[in-house]
Amino acid sequence: MELTGKHIALGVSGGIAAYKAAELVRLLIKQGATVQVAMTEAATHFITPVTFQALSGNPVFTDQWDPRVANNMAHIDLSRAADVLLIAPASADFLAKVANGLADDLLSTLTLARDCPLLVAPAMNQQMWENAATQRNIVTLRSDGISILGPACGEQACGENGLGRMLEPEEILTELIAHFQPRLLAGKKVLLTAGPTFEAIDPVRGITNLSSGKMGFALARAAREAGAEVTLVCGPVSQPTPSGIKRVDVTSAHEMHAAVMQCAAAQDVFIGVAAVADYRPKLASEHKIKKDGASATPIELVQNPDILADVAALPAPPLCVGFAAESRNLADYAQKKRAAKKIPLIVGNLVQHGFGGDDTMLTLFDDDGATPLPPGPKLALARALIEHIAGLLARR
Ligand code: PMT
Repeated sequence: MELTGKHIALGVSGGIAAYKAAELVRLLIKQGATVQVAMTEAATHFITPVTFQALSGNPVFTDQWDPRVANNMAHIDLSRAADVLLIAPASADFLAKVANGLADDLLSTLTLARDCPLLVAPAMNQQMWENAATQRNIVTLRSDGISILGPACGEQACGENGLGRMLEPEEILTELIAHFQPRLLAGKKVLLTAGPTFEAIDPVRGITNLSSGKMGFALARAAREAGAEVTLVCGPVSQPTPSGIKRVDVTSAHEMHAAVMQCAAAQDVFIGVAAVADYRPKLASEHKIKKDGASATPIELVQNPDILADVAALPAPPLCVGFAAESRNLADYAQKKRAAKKIPLIVGNLVQHGFGGDDTMLTLFDDDGATPLPPGPKLALARALIEHIAGLLARR
């Protein structure tokens, strides 16, 4: 559970996306958070307080003059108890109020009186979002240190299409979890590779491996949570893109090499998590190979470029981190790979732990020797590795 012990004050303002806030409360509770909901009067036209009360297990506040609050200071009490105030959905009208410091109902008063960070998830018609007044307000909110989550682009409840949709509850949850992570890589650029490569033999066949992309995607998410600007070059995988990350899809090792070399020199960190094919067929057949011969035709292989070694050989390389998946002799093989590629850190994992699963076991090999990390989910280990990398970067 990612939010155990956290108190989230959730403000719901008036918009059709208010119904999605119910799912958000469910997700927050599932992650161990305590949730306290406050709604605008407009929001109660879209969804009733009873829904939020049932889901959060806490009374819901909508009125500044609520007789249940003995001292009439709900706006102070609610924000003092919170680690974060999240407004989802945040309507155009509500954002305008916050940008201008208005406090004419419970939620806007609570927002003005808060002493905790504020995150807002805008939700409105695309024309309202594009309106110069809204854009002015967003600039003001950003410069006031308020985090703007989204909005997303797509089909809207009014039938129009464009920017203004509220992020999905799962995406808001991910952003909120990221908010509580230490910003160890703020201002840094991180480039990663993930997944397998696919080396074509003919139009329907190829050489590939069992990498799912999970470890690389977890690391990309952890680097983003730590405040880095993240580019993820990935082979053919079916992982969803973590929010706020630039994803570049490639197929072969050659394409991965080209995509990486295009931007590697501008990075602070490069992490090669991909299981890159060392060899490819010298010639990919234009047509499907038929089995009409008496004996099978051998496939001639040629070596692929070594992406990690080429990045490490740049005149001013980023901090390079490699991965090594081995079925035996992990420490020996990993250290040999680290030396061959001339990189400061290599992360070893046994193939039976690394490929495909949600959990893994990692050992870090650097100048200080071997440091095993406690086994666990790939995201937890990714966060530990990012912490280690931030330490190496600071000592560079
Ligand atoms: O994707 P998952 O299912 O979550 O699995 C994760 C993983 C097991 C694939 C990952 O944790 C891992 O170990 N990746 C490296 C696999 C490996 O053994 O790579 P390698 O020994 O071929 O290469 C060593 C390093 O050089 C790696 O960082 C690799 O990205 C890099 N390399 C290798 C060959 C090449 N041509 N270019 C490279 O950059």
